[in-house]
Amino acid sequence: MLGIKESLVKYVFQPQPAASSAPDGTPKAPPKLGTSYTPRGPFERPDGKMVFLVFGRTGWLGGELGQMLTDSGHKFEYSKCRLHDRAGIEAEIEALQPTHILSAAGVTGRPNVDWCEFNQVKTLQTNILGVLNLADICEGRGIHFTNFATGCIFEYDDAHKLGSGVGFTEEDKANFDGSFYSKTKGFVEDMLRSYNHTLTLRVRMPIGADLEFGRNFLYKISHYAKIVDIPNSMTVLPEMMPISLEMAKRRLTGIYNFTNPGVVSHNECMEMYKKYYKPDHTWTNFTLEEQDKILSAKRSNNELDCTKLQKEFPEMLGIKESLLKYVFEPNAKAQGIAAE
Ligand SMILES: NC(=O)c1ccc[n+]([C@@H]2O[C@H](COP(=O)([O-])OP(=O)(O)OC[C@H]3O[C@@H](n4cnc5c(N)ncnc54)[C@H](OP(=O)(O)O)[C@@H]3O)[C@@H](O)[C@H]2O)c1
Repeated sequence: MLGIKESLVKYVFQPQPAASSAPDGTPKAPPKLGTSYTPRGPFERPDGKMVFLVFGRTGWLGGELGQMLTDSGHKFEYSKCRLHDRAGIEAEIEALQPTHILSAAGVTGRPNVDWCEFNQVKTLQTNILGVLNLADICEGRGIHFTNFATGCIFEYDDAHKLGSGVGFTEEDKANFDGSFYSKTKGFVEDMLRSYNHTLTLRVRMPIGADLEFGRNFLYKISHYAKIVDIPNSMTVLPEMMPISLEMAKRRLTGIYNFTNPGVVSHNECMEMYKKYYKPDHTWTNFTLEEQDKILSAKRSNNELDCTKLQKEFPEMLGIKESLLKYVFEPNAKAQGIAAE
């Protein structure tokens, strides 16, 4: 093997055989890299309508998207393709001519993200290759792409101390890779910054109004034997999902922290749960270190700065107000519990 300088002289700076030029000396065309790396302007349908292609039909957020689009009278279809099936997705797009793609497709792990530790290839095929494939297809066609991503790519650090009120902004890059799930999400988020038609929504600890639904963060922490007590940014879905649709319609792009402003701790959540939903509810706390011992992967705890989203949606409620309005008050009312 040659030293670096000898190798440069031999293979780079010495005249090469005519591999990069035709016999008449004209340069050959560059290798074909693909069809979609030239950015296009926004795709408009001739009828001027907005049409949505949605990924994640069988999932929680994907189901919410379909319900919301149905309720609001938008034209949409669910994709039948896997995220990395480029030809299949292109064919669906040709048939539907969507102006927007909404994707809540992702590998999240069952029963929880620990699954991703032991299924790393499957996880990255969807969360990295699949998501980039979709973003790339949209880039080539000028279709607006909303990706329901995660804010679980950060952990409190010296510049963003727990309780300081200083949250991570959209400019910050992931600082948490304690789980393989978060590692894939942080990696792909940074890559997505380069695409011009992609909107990345950093969802965290989603909370719906159905407190008996097993994926709901409040259901989970009300059923665990022990819980930590750490303030976090969270996403109240009944308020935020309509905001996500509006963001897509406004064709916003780039990264947005997609949580309600402020933080709420596990114990504060459980205090509200007890007051407005199950008066006899009790819970037991343990420390982060004790929690780490029973999990295969670490969990992220952080505060996200919502200033950017608040500029677009100044009416958005703070996390505790949103929890009360969209989750606890309707549940208290349904059960006849007086909620003062
Ligand atoms: N739930 C949370 O706590 C949470 C928190 C923050 C962020 N998020 C993010 O929000 C998004 C949606 O979350 P969710 O809770 O609704 O997830 P979910 O309930 O686990 O649903 C995931 C969906 O993705 C689909 N999917 C997985 N791999 C796919 C692939 N290769 N091609 C096409 N579809 C694929 C699944 O379809 P199949 O059933 O056909 O595989 C399913 O419909 C995810 O990106 C997740 O990371 C979720």
